[in-house]
Amino acid sequence: MDRRQFLAGSGVMAATPVLAQAVATNTRTDIEPGLFKHVDFTSDGLAFNPLEYTTVLQEVATTRDLEADYYSNGGFIAGLERKFAQLLGKEAAMFVPTGTLANHLAIRKLAGNDRRVLVQAESHFYNDSGDCADTLSGLNLIPLALGRSTIELADVKHWVERSAGSRVAMKVGVISIESPVRRKDHELFEPGELERVCMYAREQGIRLHLDGARMFNLPLHSGKSVREYSALFDTVFVSLWKHFNGASGAILAGDAKFIDGLFHTRRMFGGSLPQAWPGVALVTQFADGYEEVYAKSWRAADQLIALLQSDTRFKVQKVPNGTSRFLLAAAGVAPDDLTERLLKRGVVLPHARPDTGVFPMQVNPTSLRTPSATLARVFTDSMSG
Ligand SMILES: Cc1ncc(COP(=O)(O)O)c(C=O)c1O
Repeated sequence: MDRRQFLAGSGVMAATPVLAQAVATNTRTDIEPGLFKHVDFTSDGLAFNPLEYTTVLQEVATTRDLEADYYSNGGFIAGLERKFAQLLGKEAAMFVPTGTLANHLAIRKLAGNDRRVLVQAESHFYNDSGDCADTLSGLNLIPLALGRSTIELADVKHWVERSAGSRVAMKVGVISIESPVRRKDHELFEPGELERVCMYAREQGIRLHLDGARMFNLPLHSGKSVREYSALFDTVFVSLWKHFNGASGAILAGDAKFIDGLFHTRRMFGGSLPQAWPGVALVTQFADGYEEVYAKSWRAADQLIALLQSDTRFKVQKVPNGTSRFLLAAAGVAPDDLTERLLKRGVVLPHARPDTGVFPMQVNPTSLRTPSATLARVFTDSMSG
């Protein structure tokens, strides 16, 4: 009997689908001591270290039929693409090694010959992609809503009409929208305005792309499902390494005609990894049930916030229209000292903002590893040494 048959017979195979939750809640007794213990307020997911990552990968590889892909096509990757197409309610999906490239591939193809693209001035695509759209694809990005998350419909109309009415008439080809907006503490693009902008774009024949790197956090805060968001857009990118604990990776979803053959362009940009599976083999485990685990993580965070606020030294602020972040200030202790003391107790804080000393705290399932009352005590103990 080989190992896989043995595991199937022993019932381990049946237990595998709950792995994600078990790891998050630290209920497993058969894993190496010291692993999966940290509460980490810096991450969108479980912030695995290399040993934790390979421990989960080992379990996935021994309990599931994991078939290697070839240049990011076929094998495990094909199944992952089908799964995400279904989760997003799109006909097809393609694996891309980074979200940066996923956004670029989508927007350049959607634009075609209409090379003017409206984007949020605060978006990742405008700020953190090295002007790839201009340099490599000849696109002209127009940044709107400086300092804000939401582009108002009036702004969109103004730029569409201004472009069409120029000496050389230009058609806006694409509107790219990011929600939640990372640079704005993961604030939502206001959902009502989003629908109005998308409806207008459709009427004008303007194509729509969603940078939904963290879009699986949207339903809890907006009441709209992932599929409802996805349906507003021609193409959608979702990150595989933020919520779903891949080592890297992204999914780009759209209709079958759009995705068909796009792997050639992925390869042209050097983005077809000869073997992509090791970076994403555990993603499906965490995608199943993610929204439920995220809602639980917020319930735990709210308990922690209430306990911290009962101590006058802590001040907590929620982000208006926010998603996965709250802001924490601690009076009477230098931020670096608090960070160091908490780290010794297994709690990882993000860098405090240099101007205010405020910690931008990420809500994620690592907060389910320790009861909120215990965690609050760890914070209060760390105030004095
Ligand atoms: C909103 C947003 N879009 C796109 C990306 C790019 O993803 P990647 O790091 O996989 O290239 C990021 C990454 O941080 C992001 O936060």
